[in-house]
Amino acid sequence: LVRSRGLGDVYKRQTMNTKLFISSIFLSTSLSLFAQKSATITLHTDQSEQIIPKEIYGQFAEHLGTCIYGGLWVGENSDIPNINGYRTDVFNALKELRVPVLRWPGGCFADEYHWMDGIGPKENRPKMVNNNWGGTIEDNSFGTHEFLNLCEMLGCEPYISGNVGSGTVEELAKWVEYMTSEGDSPMARLRRQNGRDKAWKVKYLGVGNESWGCGGSMRPEYYADLYRRYSTYCRNYDGNSLFKIASGASDYDYNWTKVLMDRVGGRMHGLSLHYYTVSGWNGSKGAATQFSKDDYYWTLGKCREIEDVIKKHCTIMDEYDPQKNVALMLDEWGTWWDTEPGTNPGHLYQQNTLRDAFVASLSFDIFHKYTDRLKMANIAQIVNVLQSMILTSGKNMVLTPTYYVFKMYNVHQDATYIPLELNCDMMDVRDNRRIPMVSATASKDPNGKIHISMSNVDADNAQEVTINLSGTKAKKAVGEILTSTNLTDYNSFENPDNVKPVPFKEVKINKDILKIKLPAKSIVTIELQ
Ligand code: AHR
Repeated sequence: LVRSRGLGDVYKRQTMNTKLFISSIFLSTSLSLFAQKSATITLHTDQSEQIIPKEIYGQFAEHLGTCIYGGLWVGENSDIPNINGYRTDVFNALKELRVPVLRWPGGCFADEYHWMDGIGPKENRPKMVNNNWGGTIEDNSFGTHEFLNLCEMLGCEPYISGNVGSGTVEELAKWVEYMTSEGDSPMARLRRQNGRDKAWKVKYLGVGNESWGCGGSMRPEYYADLYRRYSTYCRNYDGNSLFKIASGASDYDYNWTKVLMDRVGGRMHGLSLHYYTVSGWNGSKGAATQFSKDDYYWTLGKCREIEDVIKKHCTIMDEYDPQKNVALMLDEWGTWWDTEPGTNPGHLYQQNTLRDAFVASLSFDIFHKYTDRLKMANIAQIVNVLQSMILTSGKNMVLTPTYYVFKMYNVHQDATYIPLELNCDMMDVRDNRRIPMVSATASKDPNGKIHISMSNVDADNAQEVTINLSGTKAKKAVGEILTSTNLTDYNSFENPDNVKPVPFKEVKINKDILKIKLPAKSIVTIELQ
């Protein structure tokens, strides 16, 4: 029995070691059919307490490759259909996704970005070299107004990532004033001159990004002092209340979190964390669309390791802040593969398969458990970069399998988390990791509807899942399933609907016991009725 945490999901496992797994594969193959496995889930509806903040479904848009230019923004004069310069197809797809928060302008780009270059008449805006991302020329035609107006149109919270690495305290303080001051202040006047009378509401402000690396190569002690200094001058104007986020650790750097909690503590509202599902920072990371079953399982092991990483950062935060006043903000996560052949290696453009969809679903299942401390997560990135929701090429657009997972999981936004107990097979995978063959999460939405999402990660075997509904009195369940013939399947511009959810009906309910058959490599969300 492995108890993950007090009120969280509990996993009981029937161990399936590699040897057993190989022999079962051999047996199955020799019989030309794969076995059906079983799993059980018990919902603890009486223990539900914490809300899953909608910001767990956050997005991230950086001036990187074609995320902004060509992805979100084509300009008013483009022959690609657009709404005031924003691509119509992408905008509509994002609107449907109910994006709760959008982080911008970076990433690494943020610490070289000077916001004043991106305001005023477009023809006067200076060009710069995007040193972090392929040396591309940035013409600053997408700036503060274009970003904040997009957030207003999407109905999402903006998350501004401020420049601490190469910017000044004055520059960041003035940016906050420009965006949020209603009064007769110098920056509010400048904003009005540039055509925007009313101040925007800006909630989330990042004070630097990856300050240990591309954001200034700092030591945590030095950054802690800089955070204190920069954040002092980022004021709350006219009813706008900033939620200030300190630049946090990468992956396993627990010392960074410790020093920040010790030296900054309650001066920050949130502390960030970055974790990528990546095989290493040097050399090949593997192709996005060509991988073996072994690579697939390794990916899920690496993805699931985020649970241990979150737990360890949370434990340190708990030592300094048992009341959980400082939030953990996972403001970059997702898969990182080799760039697609023929594309600029600095643009981080990668395809997105069913494997990526599993990284999304398994990650959400974990994030929900820690929402007593984890208050935001921003996948990297929204369009055309890393594990994107959307890919574009000229006039064409495709929605990725990851987009569909976000859509299927939307029902958990702002719902009450329901802890669950899960019993299923475990598999040993490369690099000494173990993964459960089934992953699940459940929540109750503000209207009282219960949703359960489940992933059968087993590449070959279906799972018969028995769910104890613990007195929910549900009579039936309706849902959607995302799967495909191959784990390597993806949506291309030629075949955009290759991997797409369809209605799911394999559910039976009898006296509080729900039985559901999950096909191999499938992701399902059901609603109890
Ligand atoms: O998301 C791509 C990059 O990854 C970001 O710019 C940076 O913060 C991280 O290293």
